[in-house]
Amino acid sequence: MRCPKCLLCLSALLTLLGLKVYIEWTSEPQLGKAYPGPRGTAPGSTPASSEPTLPANLSARLGQTGPLPSAYWNRQQWRLGTLPSGDSMEVGDCHAWGASAAAEIPDFTSYPEDLRRFLLSAACRSFPQWLPRGGGGQVTGCEEPDVPYLLLAIKSEPGHFAERQAVRETWGGPAPGVRLLFLLGSPEGKAGPDLSSLVAWESRRYSDLLLWDFLDVPFNQTLKDLLLLAWLGRHCPGVSFVLQAQDDAFVHTPALLDHLRALPPERTRGLYLGEVFTQAKPLRRPGGPFYVPGSFFEGGYPAYASGGGYVIAGHLAPWLLQAAARVAPFPFDDVYTGLCFQALGLAPRTHKGFLTAWPADRTADPCAFRDLLLVRPLSPQDSIHLWKQLQNPQLQC
Ligand SMILES: *[C@@H]1O[C@H](CO)[C@@H](O)[C@H](O)[C@H]1NC(C)=O
Ligand SMILES: *[C@@H]1O[C@H](CO)[C@@H](O)[C@H](O)[C@H]1NC(C)=O
Repeated sequence: MRCPKCLLCLSALLTLLGLKVYIEWTSEPQLGKAYPGPRGTAPGSTPASSEPTLPANLSARLGQTGPLPSAYWNRQQWRLGTLPSGDSMEVGDCHAWGASAAAEIPDFTSYPEDLRRFLLSAACRSFPQWLPRGGGGQVTGCEEPDVPYLLLAIKSEPGHFAERQAVRETWGGPAPGVRLLFLLGSPEGKAGPDLSSLVAWESRRYSDLLLWDFLDVPFNQTLKDLLLLAWLGRHCPGVSFVLQAQDDAFVHTPALLDHLRALPPERTRGLYLGEVFTQAKPLRRPGGPFYVPGSFFEGGYPAYASGGGYVIAGHLAPWLLQAAARVAPFPFDDVYTGLCFQALGLAPRTHKGFLTAWPADRTADPCAFRDLLLVRPLSPQDSIHLWKQLQNPQLQC
């Protein structure tokens, strides 16, 4: 070796360069997002309160202070927001709501098919649980002394066997105070192969599938939120926190637990924590993703936490259900949750550790993950690989 010092210098330089690159991309993540719009870390214009309230007149909370709006959702909301208490979405025939939407929206026939289907059944929100024929697979409630501190409520769909198994084997695996449940629609294959017998087997084997008898399509995801809230009220009212996430998320569960345990009580009461989008607006390109016609919705979205994964305080479950009865149906589950929180006077809190549009090329580096709480999307394989690396006591960053 002619110049050992040069080699040393070179390797030091390379290390520094690597460090610089690492620091730059951890401090300036380039995020894709579900519904583009300016984002920020401020919790929005609503003053952050920590106790939910549901006033008899929701108009001011939802920003409906001008003249009578013309878009269908806004008009429905105007009416629903000021109903005498006791009245709600649930009153009357749910299909009648859809039929009048179809009749009253002038350009309804030009709406995309999934949006039309959504509107026709949007007010139908009670569905029975789907249980395997021949019994078994019942999900037990949270009985004392096993009331979970953190419930992981993961939105999955019947065919995602590998995603669910990866969650069970990694961040959703048994841990003190943590309970795992998957939320699914019917496996009966109205829109694909009949997965009933496979899902029935899985349900008996793991008893962690909450299934309901509705079609599991993107525009039906709000049903999972609402039916989970109802289930919590009946079977798990004492849960402290609920993480709602997609099955392609990766959660650093120990770090999330540490974060939640360290929060001061006044911050946990009205908790709605995730990657928050503020001032997002509906996308107006017909045929494009997340298209919302102007005749259906006008105005901007409320501040909301990305549906890829967010945490709410468990005691808000009944409040959110009450709010949902007074907030008109909206096709995107995370925006809808944002609307319900806005109705309750609660603002989402952003945490830099939630990255719901994680670039695929970063998954290889466990060190990049150390300070994060939740990222997505990750493949089942990547999740298993990353979890193993994070468990390794020799991991040096
Ligand atoms: C509800 O509040 C809005 C805005 O503050 C107001 O314009 C409207 O008249 C109220 N509606 C009722 C029925 O009180
Ligand atoms: C949601 O599920 C219900 C019940 O299966 C179904 O009638 C409705 O069409 C589904 N919604 C969409 C958007 O497909």
